[in-house]
Amino acid sequence: MSENVLFNQGQIISSKYDFSKAYLSAELFKKKDSNGPEPSANQPEKITLSDGNEIPLIGFGTYTLTGGAGVNTMMQALSTGYRALDSAVNYENEGAVGEVIRRTSLSRENLFITSKLPGRHQRFDEAIATIQESLYRMHLDYFDLYLIHWPNPIEDHYVEAWQALIKAQKMGLIRSIGVSNFLPEHLERLEKETGVLPVVNQVELHPYWSQAKQRQFDKDHGIFTQAWSPLGRANTVLQDKTIQKIAEAHNKSIAQIILRWELQLGVGVIPKSSSSKRQFENLDLFNFELSEEEVSSILALDKPDGRTNNQDPATYQEF
Ligand SMILES: NC(=O)c1ccc[n+]([C@@H]2O[C@H](COP(=O)([O-])OP(=O)(O)OC[C@H]3O[C@@H](n4cnc5c(N)ncnc54)[C@H](OP(=O)(O)O)[C@@H]3O)[C@@H](O)[C@H]2O)c1
Repeated sequence: MSENVLFNQGQIISSKYDFSKAYLSAELFKKKDSNGPEPSANQPEKITLSDGNEIPLIGFGTYTLTGGAGVNTMMQALSTGYRALDSAVNYENEGAVGEVIRRTSLSRENLFITSKLPGRHQRFDEAIATIQESLYRMHLDYFDLYLIHWPNPIEDHYVEAWQALIKAQKMGLIRSIGVSNFLPEHLERLEKETGVLPVVNQVELHPYWSQAKQRQFDKDHGIFTQAWSPLGRANTVLQDKTIQKIAEAHNKSIAQIILRWELQLGVGVIPKSSSSKRQFENLDLFNFELSEEEVSSILALDKPDGRTNNQDPATYQEF
């Protein structure tokens, strides 16, 4: 085992917020969920957030998974071993996630459900009502995590939206409150104006957009960085020659090398896959380890224009 593995049963023991060491050995990973439908499945290990709540390091992305087909794909993901589902009002699949929660034999405590506040409902009262509507659609009493989906800084209502999330947490509607696509300047403003920092920042992150500055800022502020489109939404990164060489050396797929690299950076991942084979592959990340040189060589692939869709949170807005 590497000297860098500083976890003990999912708890960081080196330093409270040292997410850079947030990866685990295969031994720690193979915990069984006694309440799961398929007890042989891998269960993603958890880490503790700065509010004391736990979050699985690997969650399941649900963007584009809607209706009956979406329900089936998400049920398959739970059978494969995923416990965290990443939804959003704007994915129009909170109903499907609710149906999955209704159908699964897993208890509520064994699931980790995330949703996100859309830009069009960032005013305080609307935000509270939107969170309640999300809960009603999913037939839930609380979310494990709720995020502001985008800061939308030109509209400039994200501080008000954050005050609503703080209030919703006090009302018991949300366990952990966080943000998505927030830049350091947005996070600094939240802290200055409300005194409360998010515990999670979900941002675009993959080998061509590795977010060194944002990761460092988050880490310095006790914020856990979670990678969206961790596989670059299956763009050319999945044919990258450098990563392919590393994959061959470890007898793993390129996708597995990328996800493992993200975990070794201390970042959580939420890959989406409609295929049960690839769902399993994306969980099977704890029986190998990348060397420091391999981690660095993937970091060197970062590109100044590496975003998948040119969505810069300083200017891009989503409603
Ligand atoms: N907060 C935000 O603003 C934001 C923005 C975007 C996404 N997200 C969240 O992040 C999640 C993940 O991002 P994403 O869905 O955009 O992209 P992604 O997870 O990076 O990539 C998904 C694509 O990769 C393919 N894939 C998955 N596993 C693979 C493997 N092992 N080998 C080869 N191909 C594989 C999938 O195809 P198959 O399905 O055919 O396997 C799909 O085409 C979303 O689902 C959503 O929950 C959040």
